[in-house]
Amino acid sequence: SEDEVVNITYIDRNGVRKPVRGKVGDNLMYLAHRYDIELEGACEASLACSTCHVYVHNNYFDKLQQPEEEEEDMLDMAVFLKENSRLGCQIVLSKELEGLEVTLPQATRNFYVDGHVPQPH
Ligand code: FES
Repeated sequence: SEDEVVNITYIDRNGVRKPVRGKVGDNLMYLAHRYDIELEGACEASLACSTCHVYVHNNYFDKLQQPEEEEEDMLDMAVFLKENSRLGCQIVLSKELEGLEVTLPQATRNFYVDGHVPQPH
């Protein structure tokens, strides 16, 4: 139904804005895949890579659930880490996130596909 819609804007590596309509309960990474946005997801949301790394617009960062320790560990491995970095596959859409903007980093490092799954430290 209409009140389930959550509008999300992805900003790609070239700075191009891609608005999409998601729904409450959607996973931010899989939503991107549905719209052919170049957000990777090498480990299929199992917290074993950091290829789904995104920057969350500051107005929304505090509305997200706190990251799990496993997410923090993976983020530590991400390249171009920033204060507002999160893993896209750990973000689930809610009404509160209406209007959310996320930016894709310049590059990601793919340990998982390379067969070097990092151990938590
Ligand atoms: Fe691997 Fe998100 S897809 S941690």
